[in-house]
Formats: sequence, structure tokens, C-alpha cells
Amino acid sequence: MKSLLYGVLLAGVAFAQVPFPNPQYLPPDASEGTQATQNSTIPNPQWSNLLGNALFYYDAQRSGKLPSTNRVSWRNDSCLTDGSDVGLDLSGGYYDAGDYIKATYPLSFTLMSTCWGALQFGQGYEISNQTAYLDSMLRWGLDWIIKAHPENNTLYVLVADIPSEGNYWGGDLDIPTPRTSYQINDTHPGTDAAAQASAAFSSCALLYSGVSFNSSSATSIKNDTYASLLLSHAQSLYSFAASASGGQQVYQNAVPEVADAYSSSGFQDDMVAAELFLGLATNSSDLIEQASQRYLQNQLGGSGGVFNWDSKTPGLAVLFSQIATTRSDLAGNLTGWQTEAERYFDDIVNDKSSSDASLTGGGLLWYNGDSDEASLNPALNAAMLMSLYSPFATSSSKSSSYETFAGNQLNYALGNNPMSSPYVVGMNPNSPQNPHSALASGGDNVAQIDSVPAQEAYVLYGAVIGGPDKNDRMYDIRSDWPEMEPALDLNAPMLTLAALHVMNDAADPFFVSLKNGAYASKKPSGTPCDAAFPCKKSGLSNAGKIALAIVLSLVGVLIIIVLAFFYNRRRAKRF
Ligand SMILES: *[C@@H]1O[C@H](CO)[C@@H](O)[C@H](O)[C@H]1NC(C)=O
Ligand SMILES: *[C@@H]1O[C@H](CO)[C@@H](O)[C@H](O)[C@H]1NC(C)=O
Ligand SMILES: *[C@@H]1O[C@H](CO)[C@@H](O)[C@H](O)[C@H]1NC(C)=O
Ligand SMILES: *[C@@H]1O[C@H](CO)[C@@H](O)[C@H](O)[C@H]1NC(C)=O
Ligand SMILES: *[C@@H]1O[C@H](CO)[C@@H](O)[C@H](O)[C@H]1NC(C)=O
Ligand SMILES: *[C@@H]1O[C@H](CO)[C@@H](O)[C@H](O)[C@H]1NC(C)=O
Ligand SMILES: *[C@@H]1O[C@H](CO)[C@@H](O)[C@H](O)[C@H]1NC(C)=O
Ligand SMILES: *[C@@H]1O[C@H](CO)[C@@H](O)[C@H](O)[C@H]1NC(C)=O
Ligand SMILES: *[C@@H]1O[C@H](CO)[C@@H](O)[C@H](O)[C@H]1NC(C)=O
Repeated sequence: MKSLLYGVLLAGVAFAQVPFPNPQYLPPDASEGTQATQNSTIPNPQWSNLLGNALFYYDAQRSGKLPSTNRVSWRNDSCLTDGSDVGLDLSGGYYDAGDYIKATYPLSFTLMSTCWGALQFGQGYEISNQTAYLDSMLRWGLDWIIKAHPENNTLYVLVADIPSEGNYWGGDLDIPTPRTSYQINDTHPGTDAAAQASAAFSSCALLYSGVSFNSSSATSIKNDTYASLLLSHAQSLYSFAASASGGQQVYQNAVPEVADAYSSSGFQDDMVAAELFLGLATNSSDLIEQASQRYLQNQLGGSGGVFNWDSKTPGLAVLFSQIATTRSDLAGNLTGWQTEAERYFDDIVNDKSSSDASLTGGGLLWYNGDSDEASLNPALNAAMLMSLYSPFATSSSKSSSYETFAGNQLNYALGNNPMSSPYVVGMNPNSPQNPHSALASGGDNVAQIDSVPAQEAYVLYGAVIGGPDKNDRMYDIRSDWPEMEPALDLNAPMLTLAALHVMNDAADPFFVSLKNGAYASKKPSGTPCDAAFPCKKSGLSNAGKIALAIVLSLVGVLIIIVLAFFYNRRRAKRF
């Protein structure tokens, strides 16, 4: 009897999270993504696979000692001594993108986005049997940020230097050391990074407390012990963000080393997000009122820009609307927040000039500047926000216009585009073959990144690539990081959108209709024209070139002035 009890307790310890399905979910071969589902019902197996694969991508990105339950056969333990330079264990967490840095700010955004989506579409994870993988994905990130937050006013925001071109390209066995750990602290604060980490913890604390924005869509992830651990970090990080003795500032002022990839344009949006999620998690109408005052004082309304790891502003009116609807005891002004959310969405849907966006010829939502690298990110994030907001809209016609627009963007990403390629690795034979990922490539010579090996060693299942260019072209060239590099934050909206479709959609996703060879017949020849590839030279004479150069440099100066005016933030520059 005693040993039985002991065994039960041990099992409890071994399953510190939702138990995995037995057998474990593994991505099927890409060829299965052409098999039309017979007599399909909800959940449709192809949507379930998309959600399962999108989560599987995060398993492939793990750093540290891999658990016995690791599903990615080709991954090894790595970077076990991270943090040793500062006397801490900072092993674990996730590699950010195609390289091996660990970056707290975009990771926190990713976790917040994922928990926010699951607060509404949690049933999608449930009925596809993916809740255990959601739980392990979240814990792998959150547990690492807990380690990166060893004291109230200390948060590590970067481990390992952001690589420049020509740096390490190879697998996970020889990742170069030393790897420096960079922190923000009381005298050198980073308001945005601390507030965003707080928002990640409180949004996920809500999920682990069993809260849902849709009462019929809760998940079995509920765990009050874990929720209260997350909430204590959320509170501490919020205090750090709000009242560090060094004041409030963007985090690259404290840690300039982050600036090359993840420079932040401001912190008020992060502060509002932190106050909203923390206010909801602690039932504090004061915090939510403070968020509302901050939003109005900083004039965050009226924006037409993107939603992403740097800019949360377009999501705030959505979150205010969700809280004012589901918890009217905590937040008021529902009509005001709906008006602001719908102004933003209607401008996009109706292609108004007050939105910074327009559609490409093939139908992708495009923001000049922001979409030049990782073009799918602004489009999928807009689709995610519209999908989260749709049930809270003021009329069913608005709901359906947002759902239609969001569905079109998602369909584009899933293959309804001029390349006939679903931009998720391993979903279909027409999926990209060459994601820019040092982990998956199998090569170890950056000078031969595109040719050795000819075929990537490992299929990076579930990874959303950066996305096509403004002419809807995707070249599938490994070194072309603006188009081909997956990243943690790029997959987050795909999780939420896939979970929604698992819940609501019996029909197959678009890619199932794509026949073998569809992309091959459309693949553009030559090379792209972007930050990784110099644009092709024109066929002009030398005199013509000089004349053109003079004109272009004048135009260039003008463009730079205009761009500097409109785009006061730097975008991710990933290698
Ligand atoms: C809840 O989470 C805590 C903290 O991670 C863990 O120790 C515990 O085993 C979990 N409980 C269940 C029932 O999963
Ligand atoms: C699909 O439904 C049809 C008609 O109801 C039935 O004849 C057929 O056997 C079903 N196919 C499968 C694979 O269940
Ligand atoms: C989920 O698991 C249940 C029980 O094992 C199984 O019957 C069902 O087919 C699974 N659903 C999916 C989508 O994998
Ligand atoms: C993991 O180690 C094996 C050798 O044990 C190696 O073949 C494989 O390429 C490594 N994986 C990566 C991502 O480098
Ligand atoms: C605080 O952070 C700054 C910037 O990372 C760093 O230079 C300084 O050493 C840190 N202070 C302490 C006490 O660790
Ligand atoms: C809530 O979730 C259920 C499925 O569990 C879904 O049918 C319903 O449309 C959702 N409602 C809202 C308002 O999102
Ligand atoms: C750390 O922060 C928590 C939550 O804000 C607070 O309760 C605790 O007293 C703080 N600890 C120290 C040592 O200041
Ligand atoms: C917040 O309020 C809700 C609804 O009144 C309640 O269910 C929940 O337990 C409260 N949470 C906390 C942390 O007090
Ligand atoms: C309500 O929200 C709107 C934002 O759309 C804002 O302009 C207005 O001032 C808010 N009203 C109050 C009373 O907070």
C-alpha cells in the first residue's frame, strides 16, 4: 500500500505537466498534406496536424538539456553552461530564430501571444490532443524566464552576442563559447523588456488559473500552483518596470548589445499590456484604470501600424474590449475600446489610407518597411488580432468582415498565393525546403550555406518562414534570411489561428488542394532583391548608370528623410 502511494506520488512528480498522448504526436510526412479528408468533421485532422506541427517547431528550437520526452530525434543537449559567466544557471529556453541567441523580449512576446490566443481558442488544443504540447511549450519558455529573473529587479534579456554575417553556421554540438549574459537591473532598467515579461507571466497565469475569454473554451492546462508562481513573477517584474530607481527607458539603453536585432521603439505599449493582464489576473480595477489612463495620456489610439514583438499598440484595444465584455466589474468604456479596435481593423479591411498597409497583387497584407523582412508576420498577426476580436465586435457584419479578411491572410500563408506554396515547413510537398536555420541545415560552412548540403539535413516541421517579397515571390534560397528565416515570434499567430480552425472548421486547410510540383512550376529564377541579396544591376551604359545614380541618390536621400520620419523604430535584423 505504502509503495503504491509512493508510486503515485512519484508519477505526480514525473508529470509536472499535462501528460503527453501515448504514443506521442509526431509530424507526418509532408506527403500527407495532400490527402483530402473524407467525410470530414471537427476536428479536421489536417488542421490538427497544422497545430501539432506549429507547436513541434518550438521543440526543435529548445536550448539546454533536453528532457527524456524530447520528440526531435536530431536535436542534442546544448549550451549547458549558459549563465556561468554570471554565476547562474541560464541553460534552457529557446533559440530565437535561425541562429543561437536567446532573446527575452521577443520570447516574452511569443509566450504572451500564445497564452492570449489559448485564453480564447483553448478548445482547439483540447480536441486535437495538443494541450500537453502547449503546456510543455509554455513551460519551457516560462521556466527559463523564471531563471532569467533571479532577483526582483534583475532580468537577463540576452544570452550570446547577436551574430553578424560570417559568424557560426553549424549544428548544435559546436555552438561557440563564451556566451555572454546581459541583464537589465535597478540602475540600468529596461521598462519594455520587464513589462513584456510581466505580461507574459500574467497572461499565462490567467490560462493556468482556468480563466477563459470564452467560457466554453477552457483547457485542461489548469494548475493553480504554477499559476501562482507565474503571478508572483508578473507582479515583481511589473514593479521593476514601473519603479526602478534608474527610471523608465527602452532596454537597449541599458544593453546596447540587443540593438542589432531587437531594439525597442518604446515602452508605454508594453506597460499597458502588463497592466491589463496583471489587472485581470489579480482582479484589480485600479490597474486596469491605470492602463486606460496611460493609453489615453500617451495617445496610443489612432495608430495604423503593425502588431508585433516591438509594437503591441494595435492589440490593446482588442484586449480592453475582451476585458470590458467578460469582466465589466473590472473595466468600463467598452464602446470606446470597440470603436478604436474597429477603426483600426476597418482601415485595414477597407484599405484606407489611414492604415499603413495595402495588399500585394496576390493578396498579402503588406506594410512598406515592416514587411520587407518576415512579411508573413504583420499579416498573420493582423489575422490573429481580428480573429480574437471578432466575437467582441459591435455587429455581425463587422465580425464576418474580420473573419473573412483573417481567413484570406491565413489561406495565403497556407498556399493560396501566387507561388502555390504553403509557407509552413513540412506541411505539404510544396512547402519551402530551405528554411534559414543553422540547426536544421546540416551545413557547417557559412560560405557554402546554399549548396552544402544540397538538401537540408532535417525537416524543420511546423516552422513558418519569413515570407515572400512584395511581388509575392518566394525563392526558397537558404541564405535569404528576410524570406526564409523562421523565428519564435513568427509561429505564435499560427498557433492561435490553427487552434481557431481546429475548433471551427471541418473543411481541409488550403494546402491540401495543392498538387505535387505546384511550386516547382512557379518558382522564380534568379535571386531576390532584399537585405540578404544585392539587387540586380541594370543593363545601362556607364554614363547612364552615373546619371541614374545621381537621380537615385537624390531620391534616396528624400526617401530616407521620409522613412526616418515615419519609421522611428528599427526592425528585426536576423541572420
Ligand atoms: C502543477 O504545476 C506544479 C509546478 O510546476 C507541478 O509541480 C505540479 O506537478 C503540477 N500539477 C499537476 C497536477 O500537473
Ligand atoms: C463517407 O460517407 C459516405 C456516405 O455517407 C459513405 O458511403 C462512406 O463510406 C464514407 N467514407 C468514409 C471514409 O467514412
Ligand atoms: C485524441 O485522443 C483520443 C483518445 O486517445 C482519440 O480518440 C482521438 O482520435 C484523438 N484525436 C486526435 C485529433 O488526435
Ligand atoms: C546531434 O548529434 C548528432 C550526432 O550524435 C548529429 O548527427 C546531429 O547532426 C546533431 N544535431 C544537430 C542539430 O547538430
Ligand atoms: C546593471 O546592468 C548594467 C547593464 O547591463 C550592467 O552594466 C551592470 O553591471 C549591472 N549592475 C549590476 C550590479 O550587476
Ligand atoms: C466559444 O467556443 C465554442 C467552442 O468551444 C465556439 O463554438 C464558440 O463560437 C465560441 N464563442 C466565442 C464567442 O468565441
Ligand atoms: C519582490 O517582489 C515581490 C512582489 O512584488 C514582493 O512581494 C517582495 O517583497 C519583493 N522582494 C524583495 C526582496 O524586495
Ligand atoms: C477574481 O474574480 C473572479 C470573478 O469574480 C474570481 O472567480 C477569481 O477567483 C478572482 N481571482 C482572484 C485572484 O482573486
Ligand atoms: C474610451 O475609449 C476611447 C478610445 O476609443 C477614448 O477616446 C475615450 O476617451 C475613453 N473614454 C473614457 C471615459 O475613458
